[in-house]
Amino acid sequence: MDLGIEGRRALVCGASRGLGFSCAEALAAEGVAVTLVARDASALAAAAERLKGADVTIAVGDVASPAGRAAALAACPAPDILVNNAGGPPGGDFRGLTPADWAAAMDANFLAAVELIRATADGMVARGFGRIVNITSLTVRMPVANLDLSTASRLALTGYVAGVSRQLAPAGVTVNNLLPGTIATERIKALGAMADRLVAQVPMARAGRPEEFGAACAFLCSRPAAYITGQNLLVDGGLCPITV
Ligand SMILES: NC(=O)c1ccc[n+]([C@@H]2O[C@H](COP(=O)([O-])OP(=O)(O)OC[C@H]3O[C@@H](n4cnc5c(N)ncnc54)[C@H](OP(=O)(O)O)[C@@H]3O)[C@@H](O)[C@H]2O)c1
Repeated sequence: MDLGIEGRRALVCGASRGLGFSCAEALAAEGVAVTLVARDASALAAAAERLKGADVTIAVGDVASPAGRAAALAACPAPDILVNNAGGPPGGDFRGLTPADWAAAMDANFLAAVELIRATADGMVARGFGRIVNITSLTVRMPVANLDLSTASRLALTGYVAGVSRQLAPAGVTVNNLLPGTIATERIKALGAMADRLVAQVPMARAGRPEEFGAACAFLCSRPAAYITGQNLLVDGGLCPITV
Protein backbone atom coordinates (compact mmCIF):
# COMPACT_ATOMS: atom_id res chain seq x y z
CA MET A 1 0.00 0.00 0.00
CA ASP A 2 1.25 3.48 -0.85
CA LEU A 3 0.91 5.48 2.35
CA GLY A 4 0.96 8.70 0.32
CA ILE A 5 3.03 10.74 2.78
CA GLU A 6 6.36 11.03 0.98
CA GLY A 7 7.74 14.56 1.39
CA ARG A 8 5.62 15.31 4.46
CA ARG A 9 7.26 16.65 7.66
CA ALA A 10 6.88 14.92 11.02
CA LEU A 11 7.68 16.08 14.53
CA VAL A 12 8.21 12.94 16.59
CA CYS A 13 8.56 13.38 20.35
CA GLY A 14 10.36 10.99 22.67
CA ALA A 15 12.10 9.60 19.63
CA SER A 16 15.68 8.71 20.58
CA ARG A 17 14.69 5.13 21.39
CA GLY A 18 11.72 2.83 21.96
CA LEU A 19 8.30 3.44 20.51
CA GLY A 20 8.96 7.03 19.45
CA PHE A 21 12.03 5.98 17.51
CA SER A 22 10.12 3.15 15.84
CA CYS A 23 7.42 5.59 14.75
CA ALA A 24 10.08 7.91 13.31
CA GLU A 25 11.79 5.00 11.56
CA ALA A 26 8.54 3.83 9.97
CA LEU A 27 7.70 7.36 8.82
CA ALA A 28 11.22 7.95 7.46
CA ALA A 29 10.90 4.70 5.48
CA GLU A 30 7.88 6.29 3.76
CA GLY A 31 9.95 9.31 2.72
CA VAL A 32 8.76 11.58 5.52
CA ALA A 33 11.25 14.18 6.82
CA VAL A 34 11.46 13.53 10.55
CA THR A 35 12.49 15.72 13.48
CA LEU A 36 13.39 13.63 16.52
CA VAL A 37 12.90 15.15 19.97
CA ALA A 38 14.34 13.88 23.27
CA ARG A 39 16.29 15.22 26.24
CA ASP A 40 19.64 13.46 25.78
CA ALA A 41 21.62 14.96 22.92
CA SER A 42 24.02 12.06 22.42
CA ALA A 43 21.22 9.48 22.30
CA LEU A 44 19.44 11.68 19.76
CA ALA A 45 22.55 11.90 17.60
CA ALA A 46 22.87 8.09 17.72
CA ALA A 47 19.21 7.73 16.75
CA ALA A 48 19.67 10.09 13.81
CA GLU A 49 22.68 8.02 12.74
CA ARG A 50 20.47 4.90 12.72
CA LEU A 51 18.22 6.69 10.21
CA LYS A 52 21.11 7.65 7.96
CA GLY A 53 19.95 8.24 4.41
CA ALA A 54 16.62 9.70 5.53
CA ASP A 55 15.84 13.41 5.98
CA VAL A 56 16.42 13.71 9.74
CA THR A 57 16.86 16.63 12.12
CA ILE A 58 17.08 16.54 15.89
CA ALA A 59 15.84 18.82 18.67
CA VAL A 60 17.09 18.49 22.23
CA GLY A 61 14.31 19.31 24.65
CA ASP A 62 12.01 18.13 27.40
CA VAL A 63 8.48 18.18 25.97
CA ALA A 64 7.12 18.50 29.50
CA SER A 65 8.49 22.06 29.62
CA PRO A 66 7.59 25.15 27.57
CA ALA A 67 11.27 25.63 26.64
CA GLY A 68 11.55 22.04 25.40
CA ARG A 69 8.43 22.37 23.30
CA ALA A 70 9.72 25.65 21.90
CA ALA A 71 12.96 23.90 20.87
CA ALA A 72 10.98 21.13 19.17
CA LEU A 73 8.83 23.64 17.28
CA ALA A 74 11.87 25.72 16.30
CA ALA A 75 13.34 22.64 14.62
CA CYS A 76 10.05 21.71 12.94
CA PRO A 77 7.73 24.73 12.90
CA ALA A 78 5.08 23.41 10.52
CA PRO A 79 4.70 19.65 10.86
CA ASP A 80 2.15 17.76 8.78
CA ILE A 81 2.46 14.89 11.24
CA LEU A 82 2.83 15.16 15.01
CA VAL A 83 3.64 12.14 17.18
CA ASN A 84 3.24 12.96 20.87
CA ASN A 85 5.24 10.83 23.26
CA ALA A 86 7.23 11.16 26.48
CA GLY A 87 8.57 8.80 29.08
CA GLY A 88 6.01 7.14 31.31
CA PRO A 89 5.63 8.28 34.92
CA PRO A 90 7.01 6.07 37.70
CA GLY A 91 4.88 3.34 39.22
CA GLY A 92 4.02 3.19 42.91
CA ASP A 93 1.28 2.69 45.44
CA PHE A 94 -1.36 5.44 45.19
CA ARG A 95 -0.92 6.34 48.87
CA GLY A 96 2.57 7.62 48.22
CA LEU A 97 1.76 9.85 45.25
CA THR A 98 2.23 13.55 46.01
CA PRO A 99 0.84 16.60 44.21
CA ALA A 100 4.31 17.08 42.73
CA ASP A 101 4.19 13.54 41.28
CA TRP A 102 0.79 14.30 39.75
CA ALA A 103 1.97 17.62 38.31
CA ALA A 104 4.99 15.94 36.69
CA ALA A 105 2.86 13.17 35.18
CA MET A 106 0.31 15.65 33.84
CA ASP A 107 3.06 17.88 32.39
CA ALA A 108 4.72 15.00 30.52
CA ASN A 109 1.77 12.82 29.55
CA PHE A 110 -1.06 15.30 29.15
CA LEU A 111 -0.03 18.96 28.83
CA ALA A 112 2.90 18.30 26.51
CA ALA A 113 0.55 16.78 23.93
CA VAL A 114 -2.16 19.40 24.49
CA GLU A 115 0.30 22.25 23.96
CA LEU A 116 1.95 20.73 20.88
CA ILE A 117 -1.46 20.06 19.34
CA ARG A 118 -2.48 23.64 20.11
CA ALA A 119 0.70 24.96 18.46
CA THR A 120 0.48 22.89 15.28
CA ALA A 121 -3.17 22.09 14.53
CA ASP A 122 -4.10 25.36 12.87
CA GLY A 123 -1.18 25.07 10.43
CA MET A 124 -2.39 21.60 9.51
CA VAL A 125 -5.90 22.96 9.04
CA ALA A 126 -4.60 25.73 6.78
CA ARG A 127 -2.68 23.20 4.67
CA GLY A 128 -5.67 20.84 4.53
CA PHE A 129 -3.79 17.82 5.83
CA GLY A 130 -2.69 16.73 9.25
CA ARG A 131 -2.08 13.60 11.27
CA ILE A 132 -1.67 13.60 15.03
CA VAL A 133 -0.87 10.39 16.88
CA ASN A 134 -0.53 10.29 20.64
CA ILE A 135 1.25 7.38 22.27
CA THR A 136 -0.79 6.58 25.37
CA SER A 137 -1.09 3.14 26.98
CA LEU A 138 -3.04 -0.07 27.40
CA THR A 139 -3.74 1.20 30.93
CA VAL A 140 -6.35 3.56 29.43
CA ARG A 141 -8.51 0.50 28.68
CA MET A 142 -7.16 -1.88 31.32
CA PRO A 143 -5.80 -0.14 34.44
CA VAL A 144 -2.74 -1.85 35.91
CA ALA A 145 -2.13 -1.75 39.67
CA ASN A 146 0.42 0.88 40.76
CA LEU A 147 0.44 2.66 37.39
CA ASP A 148 -2.13 5.26 38.47
CA LEU A 149 -0.07 8.28 37.38
CA SER A 150 0.10 6.80 33.89
CA THR A 151 -3.53 5.71 33.72
CA ALA A 152 -5.01 8.98 34.93
CA SER A 153 -2.80 11.37 32.94
CA ARG A 154 -3.38 9.41 29.73
CA LEU A 155 -7.12 9.24 30.34
CA ALA A 156 -7.09 13.03 30.55
CA LEU A 157 -5.44 13.14 27.13
CA THR A 158 -7.92 10.56 25.82
CA GLY A 159 -10.80 12.79 26.85
CA TYR A 160 -9.17 15.83 25.26
CA VAL A 161 -8.64 13.96 21.99
CA ALA A 162 -12.25 12.77 21.97
CA GLY A 163 -13.35 16.37 21.70
CA VAL A 164 -10.59 18.02 19.69
CA SER A 165 -10.42 15.28 17.04
CA ARG A 166 -14.03 16.04 16.09
CA GLN A 167 -13.31 19.76 15.85
CA LEU A 168 -10.39 19.15 13.50
CA ALA A 169 -12.12 16.46 11.42
CA PRO A 170 -13.75 18.75 8.83
CA ALA A 171 -10.32 20.12 7.87
CA GLY A 172 -8.78 16.74 7.04
CA VAL A 173 -6.76 16.64 10.26
CA THR A 174 -7.02 13.38 12.20
CA VAL A 175 -6.11 12.77 15.83
CA ASN A 176 -5.77 9.24 17.17
CA ASN A 177 -4.22 7.51 20.15
CA LEU A 178 -2.03 4.43 19.92
CA LEU A 179 -2.12 2.21 23.00
CA PRO A 180 0.94 0.01 23.48
CA GLY A 181 0.56 -3.10 25.62
CA THR A 182 3.83 -4.92 26.10
CA ILE A 183 6.21 -3.78 23.38
CA ALA A 184 9.82 -4.78 24.09
CA THR A 185 11.50 -1.41 24.71
CA GLU A 186 13.85 -0.17 27.46
CA ARG A 187 10.88 1.17 29.39
CA ILE A 188 9.05 -2.13 29.44
CA LYS A 189 12.22 -4.02 30.37
CA ALA A 190 12.70 -1.59 33.29
CA LEU A 191 9.27 -2.57 34.67
CA GLY A 192 10.81 -6.02 35.34
CA ALA A 193 8.48 -8.50 37.02
CA MET A 194 5.40 -6.32 36.33
CA ALA A 195 6.09 -6.50 32.59
CA ASP A 196 6.88 -10.23 32.75
CA ARG A 197 3.51 -10.86 34.39
CA LEU A 198 1.75 -8.91 31.64
CA VAL A 199 3.63 -10.65 28.80
CA ALA A 200 2.69 -14.01 30.32
CA GLN A 201 -0.98 -13.06 29.83
CA VAL A 202 -0.64 -11.94 26.19
CA PRO A 203 -2.69 -14.20 23.89
CA MET A 204 0.06 -13.92 21.26
CA ALA A 205 2.44 -15.36 23.86
CA ARG A 206 5.18 -12.82 23.26
CA ALA A 207 6.07 -9.19 23.72
CA GLY A 208 5.48 -6.90 20.75
CA ARG A 209 8.27 -5.66 18.51
CA PRO A 210 8.84 -1.91 18.36
CA GLU A 211 8.65 -2.02 14.54
CA GLU A 212 5.14 -3.51 14.80
CA PHE A 213 4.13 -0.43 16.76
CA GLY A 214 5.88 1.90 14.30
CA ALA A 215 3.97 0.33 11.41
CA ALA A 216 0.64 1.07 13.10
CA CYS A 217 1.73 4.67 13.61
CA ALA A 218 2.77 5.08 9.97
CA PHE A 219 -0.60 3.73 8.84
CA LEU A 220 -2.53 6.16 11.06
CA CYS A 221 -0.40 8.96 9.56
CA SER A 222 -1.09 7.85 6.01
CA ARG A 223 -3.41 9.24 3.37
CA PRO A 224 -5.49 6.02 3.22
CA ALA A 225 -6.21 6.43 6.97
CA ALA A 226 -8.01 9.73 6.28
CA TYR A 227 -11.37 8.48 7.60
CA ILE A 228 -10.03 7.28 10.95
CA THR A 229 -10.11 9.86 13.73
CA GLY A 230 -10.75 10.07 17.46
CA GLN A 231 -9.82 6.41 17.88
CA ASN A 232 -7.85 4.46 20.46
CA LEU A 233 -5.96 1.63 18.79
CA LEU A 234 -4.49 -1.08 20.98
CA VAL A 235 -1.21 -2.66 19.87
CA ASP A 236 -1.12 -5.33 22.54
CA GLY A 237 -1.17 -8.83 21.02
CA GLY A 238 -4.76 -9.27 22.24
CA LEU A 239 -3.95 -8.60 25.91
CA CYS A 240 -6.87 -6.27 26.62
CA PRO A 241 -10.02 -8.40 26.60
CA ILE A 242 -12.43 -5.52 25.95
CA THR A 243 -13.62 -5.80 22.36
CA VAL A 244 -15.44 -2.51 21.87
N1 LIG B 1 6.69 -0.17 25.72
C1 LIG B 1 5.43 -0.46 26.01
O1 LIG B 1 4.93 -1.55 25.76
C2 LIG B 1 4.55 0.58 26.68
C3 LIG B 1 3.36 0.16 27.27
C4 LIG B 1 2.51 1.10 27.82
C5 LIG B 1 2.85 2.44 27.76
N2 LIG B 1 4.03 2.81 27.20
C6 LIG B 1 4.35 4.25 27.17
O2 LIG B 1 4.78 4.65 25.88
C7 LIG B 1 5.75 5.69 26.02
C8 LIG B 1 7.02 5.29 25.28
O3 LIG B 1 7.49 4.09 25.85
P1 LIG B 1 8.87 3.41 25.46
O4 LIG B 1 8.74 2.02 25.91
O5 LIG B 1 9.25 3.72 24.07
O6 LIG B 1 9.86 4.24 26.46
P2 LIG B 1 11.43 4.43 26.41
O7 LIG B 1 12.09 3.24 25.80
O8 LIG B 1 11.82 4.81 27.81
O9 LIG B 1 11.68 5.68 25.44
C9 LIG B 1 11.22 6.95 25.80
C10 LIG B 1 11.75 7.96 24.78
O10 LIG B 1 11.18 9.24 25.08
C11 LIG B 1 12.22 10.17 25.42
N3 LIG B 1 11.67 11.02 26.45
C12 LIG B 1 11.27 10.63 27.69
N4 LIG B 1 10.77 11.69 28.36
C13 LIG B 1 10.86 12.75 27.53
C14 LIG B 1 10.51 14.12 27.66
N5 LIG B 1 9.97 14.58 28.79
N6 LIG B 1 10.72 14.95 26.61
C15 LIG B 1 11.27 14.49 25.47
N7 LIG B 1 11.62 13.19 25.28
C16 LIG B 1 11.41 12.34 26.32
C17 LIG B 1 13.40 9.32 25.83
O11 LIG B 1 14.64 9.98 25.64
P3 LIG B 1 15.26 10.92 26.81
O12 LIG B 1 15.13 10.16 28.08
O13 LIG B 1 16.67 11.20 26.38
O14 LIG B 1 14.43 12.17 26.81
C18 LIG B 1 13.24 8.17 24.84
O15 LIG B 1 13.69 8.56 23.57
C19 LIG B 1 5.97 5.90 27.51
O16 LIG B 1 5.16 6.94 27.96
C20 LIG B 1 5.49 4.59 28.11
O17 LIG B 1 5.07 4.71 29.44
C21 LIG B 1 4.89 1.92 26.66
